[in-house]
Amino acid sequence: MPDIPELIRLAVAARDRAYAPYSNHPVGAALVTDAGGVYTGCNVENAAYPLGSCAEQSAISAMVLGGGGTIRELVVVGPGDTPCTPCGGCRQRIREFAGPGTKVHICNERGVLLTMTLDELLPESFGPKNLNQR
Ligand code: THU
Repeated sequence: MPDIPELIRLAVAARDRAYAPYSNHPVGAALVTDAGGVYTGCNVENAAYPLGSCAEQSAISAMVLGGGGTIRELVVVGPGDTPCTPCGGCRQRIREFAGPGTKVHICNERGVLLTMTLDELLPESFGPKNLNQR
């Protein structure tokens, strides 16, 4: 199971691969599942601006491709030292694969700036339970 410093290193490496020529706001994400699977993602922008995708979204896609699971820890690293908190859409995307213990760590290259549970990021969330799926 990778520790937080290792997830930060992975997220920074993912951020270094971001394609963000329009915003100049590269973001990397790294997550570990309850089963120990580790997945990373970066943001990928598009000249047609609304088609860009977020780093968290791409890490979640990689997780699903790798077999899915429940997110235990998710690290997000943006540029600079201003905490890069997940956008509203990504909070909902994380929600889909979150458990009661899921933690989101907003980091810079040197360490954790802010740690929040998914429930703090998205209280009273709508999820699979609302559809009687799980
Ligand atoms: N972005 C992410 O990838 N994750 C976040 O948590 C916040 C924002 C991206 C989307 C866009 O490519 C750029 O950052 C500026 O919004």
